[in-house]
Amino acid sequence: MSAETAVATTLNEKPGLKIPAHLAVIMDGNGRWAKARGKVRTEGHVEGVKALRRLVDLSIRYGIKHLTVFSFSSENWSRPRDEVNFIFGLLHRFVASDLATLIQNNVRVRIIGTRTGLDEALKRLIEEVQSKTARNTGLELIVAFNYGGKSELTEATKAIAKAVASGKLRVEDITEETITRALYTSGTPDPDLIIRTSGEQRVSNFLLWQGAYSELVFVEENWPDFGEQVFLKALDEYSSRSRRFGGIESRSQ
Ligand code: FPP
Repeated sequence: MSAETAVATTLNEKPGLKIPAHLAVIMDGNGRWAKARGKVRTEGHVEGVKALRRLVDLSIRYGIKHLTVFSFSSENWSRPRDEVNFIFGLLHRFVASDLATLIQNNVRVRIIGTRTGLDEALKRLIEEVQSKTARNTGLELIVAFNYGGKSELTEATKAIAKAVASGKLRVEDITEETITRALYTSGTPDPDLIIRTSGEQRVSNFLLWQGAYSELVFVEENWPDFGEQVFLKALDEYSSRSRRFGGIESRSQ
């Protein structure tokens, strides 16, 4: 179900602060951040990439093992074409310019979501960053790009149905584990904590299966304003929660 939650032990960290093994983040509010400053929306996305770099650094420093970020949802295609292209370009530039740093920092990168609609150059770059970091043993960074939870479950269902149709799997052998293994996140424990920025309180088709028992923390700050202060505020809130997984006692603390 969930990986263990560690208590912070490294230098400078607050006593009693619980560190989720898997943190997932819905990075929201780039557009509002830009609007509030009289800037165009794309400037909010540029600042959003800087906030993502800060989050990766914080995750490494605080000993988070898996970090999943929602950077483009299947539903984001309904935005103006220019903005969609801009976000695609940002992913391209982020991967290309940060690859060396990610390798140096021992980060393993996975990009999850459907490849449909991505151009060939981006697809090649995704394969490159994944293969060049595959043997890294530090933080696992999962970028959900062109991702939707319902679509992921639909794909998993199709794969399982095909395995049944071809005789590789018996219907009576299908378990929750079968479904977990058929998802993009196969091999990664479920998120302990999902943070959403910008005050919105929804999961918006993000990690629908994997987030079944995740703690949800909503912060008011827009994504470009995310930094250590907001990170610690969210972790403080998480640390005060009693995780019950449907039972009556906390299991992970
Ligand atoms: C949410 O703000 C952000 C997005 C939909 C996508 C862009 C994400 C980033 C730039 C962060 C890093 C991304 C990559 C590709 C590495 P919004 O536009 O929904 O803001 P709004 O709700 O205020 O309009």
